[in-house]
Amino acid sequence: MVGDRLVSGVRRTARRRAATGLIVVGGDHETGDDTNTAAAYQGLVDWAGSVWNFSPQPEYRWSAEDYSTPDLIPYVGRSPGSHSILVATGMRKWGLSNGTAAAGVLRDLILDRPNPAISLYDAGRIGDTHSVGKLIADNLKVAKEYAGRLVQPFRGGLDHLEVGQGGLIEVDGHTVGAYRDSTGELHTVKPVCTHLGCPLHWNPADTTWDCNCHGSRFTPAGDVLDGPATKPLG
Ligand code: FES
Repeated sequence: MVGDRLVSGVRRTARRRAATGLIVVGGDHETGDDTNTAAAYQGLVDWAGSVWNFSPQPEYRWSAEDYSTPDLIPYVGRSPGSHSILVATGMRKWGLSNGTAAAGVLRDLILDRPNPAISLYDAGRIGDTHSVGKLIADNLKVAKEYAGRLVQPFRGGLDHLEVGQGGLIEVDGHTVGAYRDSTGELHTVKPVCTHLGCPLHWNPADTTWDCNCHGSRFTPAGDVLDGPATKPLG
């Protein structure tokens, strides 16, 4: 377990030069919702070690984003509000099968052919009671983020930031996002998401600024890694 989250993984073999390695996937959490991201990676290492009874030495690790809808069925079809824009999203790790189904739905929409899956995947649906409840809960979370979570900025000043350290720092009464990279260079940003203005959270394991409202991610220098934000941090 990491916190209250069960860590488990799925694995695939991966050939690299003469050796066969493993790709282990899991430890999911909402973007910006877990400040102890190093523990999430360690949980996967521990899980792999317990399953195969050895001490894994990870060569690479990375986080990816995966979208899901409130009722867990992808949104595929015409974008709400725009007849000419087609969307396919919310595959929830099932891109191989859902992506194939989405291609059929979009093809039949374009060719104006009947397809029973068109209404199932309808990108403009509100969904059932559970989906509405989930939407309300998600929007309450966004409202809470706007109000500002109780993350106290570090008051020691930028000079006290050590190599590899990052987070919120109070400078002259203002909160800045700062990170000192492995060469000692200091990167500072305004820790406010350029999508709709939610406060950003430092992700120490990936060294990124993450937004818990809609999932945008930024590099320590403020460049966009993941949308919906399109503009770099100030
Ligand atoms: S406010 Fe940050 S992703 Fe929407």
